[in-house]
Amino acid sequence: MMRFSAVTLTLAVASSPTCLAWVPFSGSLKRASASPSARMLMTAGQPSRLSRRSLMETSLGTAAAGIIASSLHTPTPRASASLTASSELPEDAYTLLGGDMKSCKILNGMWQLSGGHGYRPQVGPAVSDMRKHFEAGFNTFDTADIYGGAEDVVGSYKREYGTKENQGLFYTKWVPRPERVSRAAVKEAIGRSLQRMDTTRLDLLQFHWWEYGYPYYMDALQYLQEIQQDGGIRHVALTNFDTKRMSEIYDAGVPLVSNQVQYSLLDQRPNVLMAPAAKARGMSLLAYGTLLGGFFSGQWKGKPDPKGFETVSQQKYYNMIRTWGDWALFQELLQAMDGVAEKHQVSIPNVAVRWVLEQPAVGGAIVGCRFGLKGKAHTEDNRAVFAFALDKEDREALQAVTERGRDLMKVIGDCGAEYRRA
Ligand SMILES: NC(=O)c1ccc[n+]([C@@H]2O[C@H](COP(=O)([O-])OP(=O)(O)OC[C@H]3O[C@@H](n4cnc5c(N)ncnc54)[C@H](OP(=O)(O)O)[C@@H]3O)[C@@H](O)[C@H]2O)c1
Repeated sequence: MMRFSAVTLTLAVASSPTCLAWVPFSGSLKRASASPSARMLMTAGQPSRLSRRSLMETSLGTAAAGIIASSLHTPTPRASASLTASSELPEDAYTLLGGDMKSCKILNGMWQLSGGHGYRPQVGPAVSDMRKHFEAGFNTFDTADIYGGAEDVVGSYKREYGTKENQGLFYTKWVPRPERVSRAAVKEAIGRSLQRMDTTRLDLLQFHWWEYGYPYYMDALQYLQEIQQDGGIRHVALTNFDTKRMSEIYDAGVPLVSNQVQYSLLDQRPNVLMAPAAKARGMSLLAYGTLLGGFFSGQWKGKPDPKGFETVSQQKYYNMIRTWGDWALFQELLQAMDGVAEKHQVSIPNVAVRWVLEQPAVGGAIVGCRFGLKGKAHTEDNRAVFAFALDKEDREALQAVTERGRDLMKVIGDCGAEYRRA
């Protein structure tokens, strides 16, 4: 199997003061010292050459890792949880994840709050935007321990809205270093997320592991299950695990409900092995990168090959575009998507999300939200995803272009391989 070439691992990073990490402090997200990977991203003026690990960390959002706010909150006891959003979305906009969580099939992604996404997030406006998404029926949020202050923003949201009834579903991740894990260390990490998110139980804990060569992930999963049995976690899940490991873990008796993987019209790797394996086990896939960091939108149609990027998300998916094909082929894909969008009177992002949601085993597409940035809430447009369906002609028109790109299973490997060393 081929691995990423040096070319695909080299990003021309625009000089941008926004490639910094931010943590919450006194109602605003405050600048913090950046991790090595963030510092590499900040190399001024010149295109930076990122190491494979740096690229992986940037992709996961670890630019902000290790700078978690120290002002942790005392958890408030919560009534447990059957969800009622003040939904303006149709019933088929939801799935019952884990059998008991009425989870919106378009999830609100919170990596965009972690710094490096072209703006300085503020807690107040971010919480207010989260509330607007919830009220529009988008009741489900995806965050991580490594997304800068994002878990703390969930805590702020919960303190404002969440004491008496369930005011949203909040999925998080735990991304530990690839080293031996002890029961105490797992407890401490999960305890930190509980405190930051101001809750007594995490709805979904998605576990990431950097190196399969370090076998301690099975220990970690055992300890996570113990915390689940004690009531601190509602459901255990994975992110970026490949089909082989996901299947082994599930088949060993860990009751996983989902695996969060990159999945888009351009990156169809999950179709090959992951989706059939997940479906056979009753697991769901939560897709990210569905909008390619915003590249799947009308605003990029007919535009020249970009020289710099507003967000680290764009950097990540531009790299995917170049791994799959080139900018000219990507423009052809946008044209084909535009044709389908025109036919159904929807937008290009609607076509991108709809395509992913129609794939087997997919339980949701996570769409990144720049909460608190004016004019960047797309709830109105995104609701149209639930008002149309792709037909055979649409799927064939899209596939006629996507299959001209490189076979990413061969170039990168199965889901999550982009985050791991050869
Ligand atoms: N597990 C992992 O390893 C992993 C990795 C990456 C991401 N994630 C998760 O996935 C989430 C999604 O992030 P992503 O980086 O993959 O980005 P994405 O969802 O592919 O793209 C997000 C961008 O798409 C644009 N957008 C959204 N709806 C739109 C619409 N209707 N019309 C036009 N543009 C629209 C917005 O751009 P503007 O803001 O410019 O409007 C937004 O910032 C993250 O927040 C995170 O929760 C997980």
